[in-house]
Amino acid sequence: MQFCFSDRYKKTPGSFLDELFRVSRDPAIISFAGGLPDTTLIDLEGIRKATIAVLEDEGRSALQYTTTDGYLPLREYIADRYRSRLGIPATPAEIQIVNGSQQCLDIMGKIFISKGSHIGMEAPGYLGAIDAFSLYEPRIHTVPLIEGGPDPDIFEALVKRERLSFFYGIPNSQNPSGTTYSDDRRRHLAEVLAGSDCAFFEDDAFGELFFDGKAHPPMKRYLPEQTVISGSFSKIIAPGLRIGWIFAPAPVLKRFNHAKQAADLHSNLFSQMILTRYLRDNSLDDHISRITSVYKEKCRLVCEHLDALGLAHTNPEGGMFLMATLPEGISSMHLFEEGVREGIAILPGVPFYPAGGGEETIRINFSSPSVEEIEVGMERLSKTLHAIRGRIPHS
Ligand SMILES: Cc1ncc(COP(=O)(O)O)c(C=O)c1O
Repeated sequence: MQFCFSDRYKKTPGSFLDELFRVSRDPAIISFAGGLPDTTLIDLEGIRKATIAVLEDEGRSALQYTTTDGYLPLREYIADRYRSRLGIPATPAEIQIVNGSQQCLDIMGKIFISKGSHIGMEAPGYLGAIDAFSLYEPRIHTVPLIEGGPDPDIFEALVKRERLSFFYGIPNSQNPSGTTYSDDRRRHLAEVLAGSDCAFFEDDAFGELFFDGKAHPPMKRYLPEQTVISGSFSKIIAPGLRIGWIFAPAPVLKRFNHAKQAADLHSNLFSQMILTRYLRDNSLDDHISRITSVYKEKCRLVCEHLDALGLAHTNPEGGMFLMATLPEGISSMHLFEEGVREGIAILPGVPFYPAGGGEETIRINFSSPSVEEIEVGMERLSKTLHAIRGRIPHS
């Protein structure tokens, strides 16, 4: 018997993430390959208290069906935070709760991409987005991500040449590179897009994780009517709650809501209520500053080791990732395979470049390993590089 899978699915490349998570689960391997927040920073006790309070005070409604747009007090909290933190005049009616911001990628693909539609994204770009969009069979155009954001000339030429449904970007501490767009570049991209039919899909998974606590103005500030923001509690509270949101102009939100209803009716209400209670009883700012001070230190440590190894790398202002460039003649795929044998998982840059390239780059996640694991893991990286270099024939 042969299952009649859709053409769409048959054409989708297998997810490299599956392989990565499989490797990362081996306890003998120190993994810089995953994308997990530091487990020890999840406030287990706070979430336990919030869970009990919700069950005791409003357990029956928490376990009922609800509306697709999400729990109103949580949407109010998110809108308030846009106003107080970023000066963006958000209202709860413009916010829709989703089942992790990954769901935004799927639903945005569903409502914006027809087979052959043109979309733009950064190269390197977020693997989860490449996977999610690819299922809708777009033509993906990439713009190199250079210092300060997407290459402005290539971006402008692309927007003028193609009728893009959207350009997807991660302006804050991008995954995989750790790059943050400069404020000037944000303004410039907005000027290029203004008046076109191309939406800017601003994935802000890391916007709260700046090491110095200061935020950059989002693209939404410069291009309010054309920007769709996705946000997430995964990196700042707990990914297992699976709560993210979309903040979008009304015409987008209406279609998004409809597509989400068809997909899953609504996100987990129990999780939404636990999170809301947690946010009411605890200071999110204090919690985030605990997280960022740990990530800042881990990032510094990784950079120090990479410098000692002579590897060029990005210098993140926040987030959980950075990218390094390997010495000439060393392929990142080879490093991945050899590294696993040495007990270290380092992700090759290749899958982050949908149009090809990136063979000489690696992505390093610094949030998940402990400080001790970073020390040992970087030793192993040094050994692996040394062994590979020793085998390169000298010309
Ligand atoms: C850039 C980016 N966007 C979205 C997501 C999805 O996160 P979640 O669905 O947990 O909100 C991730 C996860 O790592 C990410 O790195």
